[in-house]
Amino acid sequence: MSLPEGFLELYAGADRQGPGTTSDVVWALNESGLSGRIKVLDAGCGTGADSWTLAQALPEAQIEAVDTAAPFVEAAQARLRAFGPQVTVREGDMAGAPGPYDLIWCAGALYFLGVTEGLRAWREALEPGGWVAFSHPVHLSDSPSAAARAFWQGEGEIGTVEDLRARVAGAGYALRGERMLVGAPWKAYYDALRAAISEARATGRAAVLAPAIEGAETEIARWEAARDEIAYALMLVQPE
Ligand SMILES: C[S@@+](CC[C@H](N)C(=O)[O-])C[C@H]1O[C@@H](n2cnc3c(N)ncnc32)[C@H](O)[C@@H]1O
Repeated sequence: MSLPEGFLELYAGADRQGPGTTSDVVWALNESGLSGRIKVLDAGCGTGADSWTLAQALPEAQIEAVDTAAPFVEAAQARLRAFGPQVTVREGDMAGAPGPYDLIWCAGALYFLGVTEGLRAWREALEPGGWVAFSHPVHLSDSPSAAARAFWQGEGEIGTVEDLRARVAGAGYALRGERMLVGAPWKAYYDALRAAISEARATGRAAVLAPAIEGAETEIARWEAARDEIAYALMLVQPE
């Protein structure tokens, strides 16, 4: 997938690189009961919004954050520096993260590996009884509107929540919890992206970032046209 020119710079200026909230992280920790001196991977961490919440919520834990995009890694390192050795952020491929982890947190990034392929690969990287929490695009009905299909255009096949549950089971995992991200988390994500666009304009970067800005504004307009239908499912799973 080729990114429009300026994509990484524009998105590195946003609070996060996909929809999600601190309450999603807190929900996963509460549901799993994880606490104390555990080891957590933030897989596809972007600029580290969720690593920050994980580090806050789990002060005794070791948090490892990994992303392939160097500008995001640099932004995450700056954001998380205050946590010192509790949090490490590195550039790399989440598929090969060694572990073992008690929790692999993966907001909006598992589709880069494929749900089945990624979950199978991570089985080896989990402690016995370990958990994976991941968010993934879903259609809310079997017959999504043309506007919803337009939003996801180019993102590959998007299934329903039932399809995703089947893929979790097919990868050999049990579903322990599920939560939908619709509406407010997406609005917050796009409000922050709009702020990054305004900042680019204010600092004279708009011409250089024009292809990325155009792409982002098209995406926001498509979300607005189908906002009640655009969803991520956040799945909390464990190997069977
Ligand atoms: C939609 S963004 C989500 C970022 C972050 N989790 C968040 O919610 O703000 C997906 C991220 O996955 C990263 N990514 C894609 N493939 C990856 C891989 N194989 N290993 C590590 N990171 C990857 C991208 O660079 C991007 O930062």
